[in-house]
Amino acid sequence: MKLTTKLLAATAICGAGAASATELEVMHWWTSGGEANAVSKFAEAWNAAGNTWVDGAIAGGGDTARPIMVSRIIGGDPPAAFQFNHGRQAEELVEAGMILDITDVSEQEGWADIITPSSLLDSCTYDGRVFCVPVNIHSWQWMWLSNGAYEAAGVDVPTTWTEYVETADAVREAGIVPLAMGGQSWQQNGSFGVMALALAGQDAWLAVNQDKDSEVVMGPEYTRVFEAFGAARELSDGLNVQDWNQATAAVINDTAAAQIMGDWAQGEFALAGEVAGEDYSCLPGLGEVALLDTGGDAFFFPVTGDPEIEAAQKELAALMLSPEVQVSFNSAKGSLPVRPDVDLTTVNECTQKGLDLLAEGSTVPSGNQLLSPDTTTQLNDLMTEFWESPSMTPAEVQEQYAAIIADAD
Ligand code: BGC
Repeated sequence: MKLTTKLLAATAICGAGAASATELEVMHWWTSGGEANAVSKFAEAWNAAGNTWVDGAIAGGGDTARPIMVSRIIGGDPPAAFQFNHGRQAEELVEAGMILDITDVSEQEGWADIITPSSLLDSCTYDGRVFCVPVNIHSWQWMWLSNGAYEAAGVDVPTTWTEYVETADAVREAGIVPLAMGGQSWQQNGSFGVMALALAGQDAWLAVNQDKDSEVVMGPEYTRVFEAFGAARELSDGLNVQDWNQATAAVINDTAAAQIMGDWAQGEFALAGEVAGEDYSCLPGLGEVALLDTGGDAFFFPVTGDPEIEAAQKELAALMLSPEVQVSFNSAKGSLPVRPDVDLTTVNECTQKGLDLLAEGSTVPSGNQLLSPDTTTQLNDLMTEFWESPSMTPAEVQEQYAAIIADAD
């Protein structure tokens, strides 16, 4: 149903002129158990305010969901709101005038004073105007380890990438797959990015991702990363799963020892009743370089030309940043709130590690903030080709990676 039709239905029930409860369709790719639990916190808050949340979940991850959302918008049948990652993914939609300017909400709610780090509001700002609401901070730079798997292998849970590699043989001998990796390209390229920051260090990582310096891709720091990534490919042999949460499930079930994945994985551990520090462990920066990217999710609101829908879209934007909703949503999501003035006294030890790193400013921008969607797609395709082709050598993928970075914008 189109937005206008929905609004007509809603106003017909409420009567003209009455404050009408509004039905808004919200699109996102949060379909794992933990994600669905988290998004229900938004829906509950919106419904409790007398409105109706129409859930537009799209399965298959962001790479599947985003083109569907874009085609709905440019096809003239937009949802009322949609999730994208912080950064450059919505640039073209904003430039095309298809996204609602919510600068007035941002000013009324004082977002510039609240949202931390300020780079998140900057990522929503185009030519001085605000076009989205950042709802969380998610970081890629984590490794999740099964304490049970290491106990079965008779070795201590690793605390660094080096220890992780050293104990991989013992893990194999216990019949456990050392590394859980899903089959989608974003998971492989994302994991490579995590390894690059952890093993090549911040300067080299920024030179590549921010300055697009292809010589650094070919240099010694990155050579080490490509070799380590080749070794990681072998460590993942024996587990065939597609979705990231199936890979997380293997760690939860102790059939795999570890997964490199963003902190949204914590939503799965929590839903499975696993306790951080007891059932699983977490290594920010792979235990090597403790830096987190400040990526995450933002909601955008397509232009509909309908003032009542617009008012409701703005109400939803403000609600998503209210202190209560920030706590309930982010606690379920495994992400960190975008406002530091909320009570997070009950977080687990992994979230606390994340909060500490954020507080001390040990952060870098996210890949989505630095690279265009086109460049990211090329890197995704390359890294999945490497992952699926055992005959492709680290040196070969390194050359091709450098060529993409040399052309990146
Ligand atoms: C989003 C997370 C989401 C993850 C897996 C990321 O791009 O930022 O919110 O949980 O994808 O679906």
